[in-house]
Amino acid sequence: MTLSTIGTDGIPDARVLILKDVTDDGRWAFASGIESGKGSQLRANPVAALTFYWSSQIRSVRLRGHIEVAPAETNATDFRERGLSARAVALAGTQSTTVGQPSTMGQLIEQAHQRLKHDPDLTSDGWTVWLLRPIAIEFWQGDPSRNHLRIRYQRHGADWTSRRLWP
Ligand SMILES: Cc1cc2nc3c(=O)[nH]c(=O)nc-3n(C[C@H](O)[C@H](O)[C@H](O)COP(=O)(O)O)c2cc1C
Repeated sequence: MTLSTIGTDGIPDARVLILKDVTDDGRWAFASGIESGKGSQLRANPVAALTFYWSSQIRSVRLRGHIEVAPAETNATDFRERGLSARAVALAGTQSTTVGQPSTMGQLIEQAHQRLKHDPDLTSDGWTVWLLRPIAIEFWQGDPSRNHLRIRYQRHGADWTSRRLWP
């Protein structure tokens, strides 16, 4: 999915991420380092949009909403469930910061691998699961004759309304 945020300079920013989960209470989860570009942006402005696109089905889903941070235990569990290499890279350096010496990256990652070998439960303090609580969700289904189907759901407190939009 594409996660769009508001840059600290007010200019939109966007990047591709994995959707980790949709919780029972309807929050959409993704994970990253808290010191990353998106982490700083979400802390300054805890709002975001998510966009999904399935080209073979000509289908898209988009959401807008407010961002919350998951409890520390959820962050730690998510980190431990990541693959070994993903954990090693996250422990070796801070996401979205400048690489000082590219030639030492491999060494730092290898050191992190060794640390994980001795302590497989090691977690990264900055690893964060973010939860988007949607205020609007739109489903878009493409139609060969361009009579595309757009259904917009809007949240009003605990209730949702839906309406069809012109394509
Ligand atoms: C297919 C794909 C999946 C990705 N999944 C994640 C993810 O789940 N979490 C993450 O932090 N970055 C993920 N990335 C990397 C992000 O696109 C991005 O480069 C990184 O999060 C830094 O973005 P930022 O500087 O805006 O914070 C993924 C990239 C691709 C192409």
